[in-house]
Amino acid sequence: MPRAVILASRPTGVVQAENFEIVDQPYQPLQSGEIRVINEYLSVEPAMRGWIADTHNYSGSIPLGSVMRAIGVGTVVESRDSTYHEGERLCGWFGWQHEAVVKADAVIRRVARDDLSPSLALGILGINGVTAFLALTGIGNPQPGETVVVSTAAGAVGSAVGQIATILGARTLGITSGPVKVRQCIDLFKYQNALDYKTSDFKDRIAEICRQGIDVYYDNTSGRITDSVLPHLAVGSRIIVCGTASIPQWAPWPQGPRVERHLLVKRARMEGFVIFDHMEWQSAIDQLSAWIRQGKLQYVEEFLDGIESCPDAIAGLYRGENHGKRIIRLS
Ligand SMILES: NC(=O)c1ccc[n+]([C@@H]2O[C@H](COP(=O)([O-])OP(=O)(O)OC[C@H]3O[C@@H](n4cnc5c(N)ncnc54)[C@H](OP(=O)(O)O)[C@@H]3O)[C@@H](O)[C@H]2O)c1
Repeated sequence: MPRAVILASRPTGVVQAENFEIVDQPYQPLQSGEIRVINEYLSVEPAMRGWIADTHNYSGSIPLGSVMRAIGVGTVVESRDSTYHEGERLCGWFGWQHEAVVKADAVIRRVARDDLSPSLALGILGINGVTAFLALTGIGNPQPGETVVVSTAAGAVGSAVGQIATILGARTLGITSGPVKVRQCIDLFKYQNALDYKTSDFKDRIAEICRQGIDVYYDNTSGRITDSVLPHLAVGSRIIVCGTASIPQWAPWPQGPRVERHLLVKRARMEGFVIFDHMEWQSAIDQLSAWIRQGKLQYVEEFLDGIESCPDAIAGLYRGENHGKRIIRLS
C-alpha cells in the first residue's frame, strides 16, 4: 500500500520526527487534468522548516494533516492531461509520498533519461544548483581575482557556489563545521581556503585570510558566522542572503548585531534571493550539466532509504549530519 508523510503537529524551533506521521494512501481516481506519478526520489530542504512554521514566510504555511510539501522525481503511470504522458520522468511538487495525484502545474520540468542520474534534478540540477548559479551570478557577480566567502560551504547549495565562483576566477573561502567537511571543501570542492566555524580561532582566521576584503559573501546561515564575516567586507561588496540556517526560530524575533554601519562604510549591497521568484531554470541547468560533464563541477548526494526516513530528515540537516544533498530514495 502506498504511504504518505503528513504534518501532524507544528514545532517550536526546528521541526522534529515526532511532528510527522506516516499514513496509508487510499486509492484516488484521476480527475480530468491530473496525472499519477510514482515517486522515485524525494527532496529534503532546510527551507521546509519555514514552510511548516506559521510565522511570516515567502510561501503559505503547510496545513496540519496535509502531505508534507516537497519536490520529487518520479514517473507518470497514468495521465488525464494532454501535456504529460505515461512513462515520462518528471520533477515537480509531488510531496513526501509514494504516489502523487497532481495537476500539470505541479510539474517543474521533465527529467531526461540520459547519462546524468535523475536524482540530480533534486540537487545540483535542481533547487540547490540553480539557486547557487542564479544568486551568485545575478547578485554576487564575482569578478576574476575577487574574494567570495560562502557559508554552509560543503552543503548542496554552498558546494556549488564555491565551485562556480572558482570557475569564474574568484578566490574562495568556505565556512562549514568539522574537519571532514573542511577537508572536503578543499579537496573536492576546490575552495582555496576553508574554515570550521566551531573552532576558537575562527574569527581571527577570517581576518587573516580576508586581509584584502571580501567582495562577495554568499550567506546561507545568518547569525554568528555572518557577524564574523561582515567586518571584513571590501568597499563595493555584495551580500547574497540565501538562507538563515543558524537561526533556530524567528518567534520571538532574535536580536543581533546591527549590520547598517558595515553596509554604509563599505558601500555594500545586501539582497535576499528566493529561487521560486526565478523559475526559468533551463539555461542554468544546461550550464551546470555542461560543467558536470566536463568534470569542473563536483557534487555529493546522500541517500536515505525508504519513506520511514522522512520524518527525521529535516532535523538531521539542522544537526549538520548531512554530507551533500540529502535525498529520500524510494524503492
Ligand atoms: N533562498 C533560496 O531560494 C534557497 C534555495 C535553496 C536553499 N536555500 C538555503 O541554502 C542553505 C543551504 O541549503 P542546502 O539545501 O544546501 O542544505 P545543506 O547545506 O546541504 O544542509 C544544511 C546545512 O546547514 C548547516 N547548518 C545547520 N545548522 C546550522 C547552524 N546552527 N549554524 C550554521 N550552519 C548550520 C549544516 O552545515 P555545516 O556542517 O556547514 O554547519 C548543514 O549541513 C539553507 O539556508 C537553505 O535554506 C535557499
